[in-house]
Amino acid sequence: MSAIENSKLTVVGAGAVGSSVAYASLIRKSARHVALYDIAAARVEAEVLDLAHGSQFTGSSDIIGGDDLDVTAGSHVIVITAGAAQKPGQTRTDLAGVNANILRSLVPNLLERSPDAVFVVVTNPADVMAVVAQEVSGLPRERVFSSGTVLDTSRLRWKIAQRAGVSISSVHAYIVGEHGDTEFPLWSHATIGTVPILEWVPQDGQPKFTVDELDQIAVDVRDAAYKVIQGKGATNYAIGLSGARIVEAILQDEHTVMPVSTVLEDFHGVSGVALSVPAVVSAAGAQPIRETTFSASELALFRRSADALREVAAGLS
Ligand code: LAC
Repeated sequence: MSAIENSKLTVVGAGAVGSSVAYASLIRKSARHVALYDIAAARVEAEVLDLAHGSQFTGSSDIIGGDDLDVTAGSHVIVITAGAAQKPGQTRTDLAGVNANILRSLVPNLLERSPDAVFVVVTNPADVMAVVAQEVSGLPRERVFSSGTVLDTSRLRWKIAQRAGVSISSVHAYIVGEHGDTEFPLWSHATIGTVPILEWVPQDGQPKFTVDELDQIAVDVRDAAYKVIQGKGATNYAIGLSGARIVEAILQDEHTVMPVSTVLEDFHGVSGVALSVPAVVSAAGAQPIRETTFSASELALFRRSADALREVAAGLS
């Protein structure tokens, strides 16, 4: 496959997250055409207008939208953000029941209008929703996946870069597992440049990282969304940018490694749940990298994440 010409992205859901995915995609020129769909006609029309009014400054992409599903037709990538959003005090998995029903209704209608689309699920709990969407679509696993821990990995790289005094692009570290409370850093593969993170000497004379400090960074990253939601009611900018970046990797057929969440099949003994591991993202979708290795403690955390999500999925009607 090669980069998709005249590409169309549909974002489903015109709430804070969906509008931010659309906004980021326009600014980054992630797709040639962007469509925003929502059942709330007044809201989606207002968001489309507000986005379109900036067209002079975003250049080649164009934005359309509305509450008619036909506006989604012919999409190459569909990012699903529709559903109830996490409120202060709620966990992502609290949203599973209501959002699973929304996706079960939406996905077949979207697929009918865009039979060749790759689906990226952002709606939380994203890993569980990716399984629901993949099952109801009947598509191959690589074509229906979730943004997973792409956002969490960005949070981790930002915190490490700040502390280490280096560019974020030189921080090679991943959050894997659930996009949620059981996520964890793959410290066994974390480097700055080629230097393992515990051996890095910060550029500004600060002391080296300690294990306790890395543990605290992991907790801060895991709990980052709660802090933002407590303060402003939602997270949207960073997930919007994460979604736009994933869209680019698909539409440009980049074969970029990203920690998206795909339904796994005998991945280190884990099957039937969607979890984030480093995966190759291209026009064909996302392929988890089976050669990814875990330390013994990381494998235990990975399996704990899988068990936690199986429990959530078991509670769905
Ligand atoms: C967050 C939401 C997108 O982590 O789950 O900000």
